[in-house]
Order: sequence, then C-alpha cells, then structure tokens
Amino acid sequence: MMTTKTAASGGTLELAPRSLTQERQFDLEDPVPAMRALLALTETTGLPFFCVDVHSGSVLAKTDEDLLELLPWSVRGQLEGLNGLRVVVEPTGLVFYSVALPDLENIPVAAVGYVLNPDSSEDGSAQQALREITQTLGWSDVEHEQWRASQPYCSPDLLKKLLSTCIESRKWLKWMQDEIAQLVREAKRAEEEIGVVHKMTRELRLTRSSAEISGLFLKQLKQLIGAEGNLIVLDQDPTDGIEPSNAPQTCQQGKLLLDQKMLRRLLDCFPGRDWSRPLVQNKVDNTLLRTDQEIRNFVVAKIGSDTISTGWILLCNLPAGREFGNAEATLLQSTATLLATHRQNRLLYCELENILLQFVNLLVSTLDAKDAYTRGHSERVAAIGRRLGEELGLPERDLNDIYQSGLLHDIGKIGVNDAILQKPDQLTDEEFAKVKKHPEIGYNILCGLKSLRPLLPGVRSHHEDFAGTGYPDGLTGEGIPLMARILAVADAYDAMRSDRPYRRGLPVETIEKIFRSDQAKQWDPAIIAAYFRVRSKILELGQGGVTE
Ligand SMILES: [Fe+2]
Repeated sequence: MMTTKTAASGGTLELAPRSLTQERQFDLEDPVPAMRALLALTETTGLPFFCVDVHSGSVLAKTDEDLLELLPWSVRGQLEGLNGLRVVVEPTGLVFYSVALPDLENIPVAAVGYVLNPDSSEDGSAQQALREITQTLGWSDVEHEQWRASQPYCSPDLLKKLLSTCIESRKWLKWMQDEIAQLVREAKRAEEEIGVVHKMTRELRLTRSSAEISGLFLKQLKQLIGAEGNLIVLDQDPTDGIEPSNAPQTCQQGKLLLDQKMLRRLLDCFPGRDWSRPLVQNKVDNTLLRTDQEIRNFVVAKIGSDTISTGWILLCNLPAGREFGNAEATLLQSTATLLATHRQNRLLYCELENILLQFVNLLVSTLDAKDAYTRGHSERVAAIGRRLGEELGLPERDLNDIYQSGLLHDIGKIGVNDAILQKPDQLTDEEFAKVKKHPEIGYNILCGLKSLRPLLPGVRSHHEDFAGTGYPDGLTGEGIPLMARILAVADAYDAMRSDRPYRRGLPVETIEKIFRSDQAKQWDPAIIAAYFRVRSKILELGQGGVTE
C-alpha cells in the first residue's frame, strides 16, 4: 500500500490496496445488481466511481480505467455499515463520495469516487499533498498537472444534492421495477389461467358426460393451482344414461381426500351466503368444519345459476406460505360456468337427439306404410350395420350414425311410384331403373337437414359396388364411404334373407356362399370378413338362424 501524509491535515491519503484488485475483477457489463447500480450511478451523475470491497478496501471494478484509485482512511474506515450516501471533504482538496451498493457475489461493496473541491483550488498545501502521492507513482510534474487539470470540480453541497437526487431516483426506479416485475408475474399468471380455460374449453364435447369433463377440469386445476385437495360434486346428470337417483357424482384428485360429507359440513357453516361469487377462506377453524383432515385454506364455488345448483367445486390447502386469492376464485368461477354450460348444452343436445330420433322413426314408419314388403327391413339393416361397425372397432358416435343411416337408407323409396314398390312380380328394366333412383331421392330429401348430414353417405351410396359397377355414382373400393360399405353388406344380407312375393328368402349358407364368391366384386372384403367373425350375432339380429 502506498501512503503519503498530507501537510495540511497530518492525515493520510492512500491508494486502494492492489493485491485483491489484481486477483478478481468485475466488468461493468456483468448482469449483477451491483454492476447495474454502479453503471446507473455514473450514467446519471457523470461522476467517476470505483467499486470497493468494504472489508479489504480493494477495487473490484472501475467506471473509468484511468481513475486513480485513491482511498483515504477517512473514507475507507467508514465503508462498512454504509447506508445510502456519505460525502467526505478531505484537506487534500479532494471531496470523496461513497454510496452503498447491493452485495457483489456475497461481498459487501460500495461505490467510491472523488472530485476536486473548487474551494481548495488555491490551497498550496492541498496541492502539495496531491503532488506527493502522484510522485510516489513516478509521475513527473507535467503528468501531475495534466492529471489535475482533467479532474472534475464540484462543491461538496452540490455533490450531495446531485448524488441524493440520483439515489432517490434509483429508489424510485427500483420501486417501479418491482411494480413492473409484479405486473409481469400477474400477467404471466393470467396468461396461464387463460391457457387453462382455453384447454378446458377444448375438452368440452357434448358426447362427454359431466363426470368425464369434471375429471379433466380437476386435472387442469390441480396442475395450475397446486392445491392438495381438489373436489367436484355434481348432482345427478339425467343425460349420463344412469338410472335417476338422488346420489350426486363425486370427482376428486390430490393427496388430501375430500368427500361430499366434508363439503356439506363446510357449506353448512355459511347459511344464507350469496353463492353467486366463490368463497375464499385462508384462516380455517377445523373445529368449525368438524373434519379429521387438516384444512388450512380453501376456495369453493357453486356450479349452476343463481337459482339452481348443479354442484360444487372445492379446492383445499395450498402449499405452505401461499393463500388463495382473487386469481384462484376467478378461475374456479370460470370452471363452474363452463361445467354448468356444458350440462345445459348436453341436456339440449340430448333433447335434440331425441327429437331427431323421433323424426327418423316417423320417416321409417312412413316408408313401412308405403312399402309393406320392406317392413322391418330398415331396422334390421340398422342393427346389423351397427354390429358390423362394432366388430370393426368404430367409435360410438360412428356406430350411432351407421344405425340411423341404416334406418333411413331406403327412405328415397318414398319418391318411387307405389305401383312399382308394391308390384308382386319381378320388375321390368324400366321399373327397376326407377327404383334405382331411390338413393339419390333419399339424399335429396335429407340433405337440407344439417343434423342429418352425417347419415347421408349411407343413404346415397349403399348400392355402390366395391368393383365400381354400382349406383348412383359408380364409386370404387375405399372411395365408397365406410358407412355405405357396411350398410351394403347389411342390406344385402337382409334382402337375400327376406321372402319376396316372387321368391323365398335364401338360406344363410347360400347367402354366405355368395358373400365368399362375390366379395371383392360387390362388397368390401374387410366388411365380409367382419361379418363371418360375428355371423352368429347377425343371425340373431336378422331374419333368424333358420337354415334349409
Ligand atoms: Fe336400397
């Protein structure tokens, strides 16, 4: 350490220790709070600074490479415990300033700098003290004067005001940064919540039961919120195909086991509460809830409208240190709304399905009344088609479509002359040409009804042949819709099996012989193969298993 005593004060003007300085240096561009603060100080004030280890006094970084690392004991001795700003007027004619910085890699550090005091510019002893220290560095008088002329001047009062303003603005900046960080966290959270609601919305399918949807929603809530207990209790859904009863359905996830009794006790604690908004409780008295489970906090929301409750969602116990708030309550409210809307839509959907089914049955009855020879044929084709579809592994939605399309496949015969349909003898070519119009007529009758559109492929194409010789469009192979290929086999089986005025129904063995010989020509071999795998079931569904 190089030291010189100043004549004016009898004190010392020291250079900062060099040893540690050479071992560890930091760059102003390092993305650490201390360096950011140091850079902000020099950019805001225009003053030079160096970053000092408050224990050792060594310089760890500088804002100006040419800055002479002067650190008198009067400054260094008070760096430890420095809080905010300190200005020291040295008898050497220098004014030192030091500002506390955030720790640098767990090292307590401070920003230190100095300027020349304009009040000491004519003080000979002060100038001499400075000259002595630059002499210890081997500087000539000319170099010393050049250095001195390049140093900034500032009065101690002005320096205090400048640095105080800067520090205050940095505090303001930090407050703003904290506010922005909080807003960013909230925005991120809101984005996650919107993402979850979006995912939930995509899960909403009318073919899914309320219980199935509840399980999917609880999984999403558990992942986002992280509560230990997650419970949805739903009143019985009449559309779930379960016998009506008073038993609610329960869906629960998480390590904290919740049940309906616990939910009931909890709700009973708040008689007369307006449940149009969720309830958040973060200080829970377990004796009040009379539960063996330790419930620290919870949020609960009603599923349903203001007047009708269709169930409840309950989340309990966030990880230690966290509490439920508006964000969780809002998400639960959205979830409850989605569940209530799904249930309402499902009720309407089921009503619509029933109306559609009644309409289809009405059409089939109309055809049966017109064409006595095919009475019951449509129901058998529908049932056989559905069974073949099951064997092919088709989903329930497709099986329902195949069944309904089977019911309606010959509906176009409504547009064929009664005399032709009821003719007891074999048809002439001209008459048969008119009968062959029925797939297109059926298609044209039904295509105006949007909800029946999934059934149209079976209605239009059930007389297409796999080899391309069928009608009305001459489609080939897999170009024929699967629904139509299935109904073609079902239709052919039942038509051949049925008695006609001009012939008896064919024995099953004969039909199966035709299936085997003509399968690649007229029918899809994969569907014929499915028929042979389930032939015994089809015999039960069709005209019976009587053979000759
Ligand atoms: Fe037909």
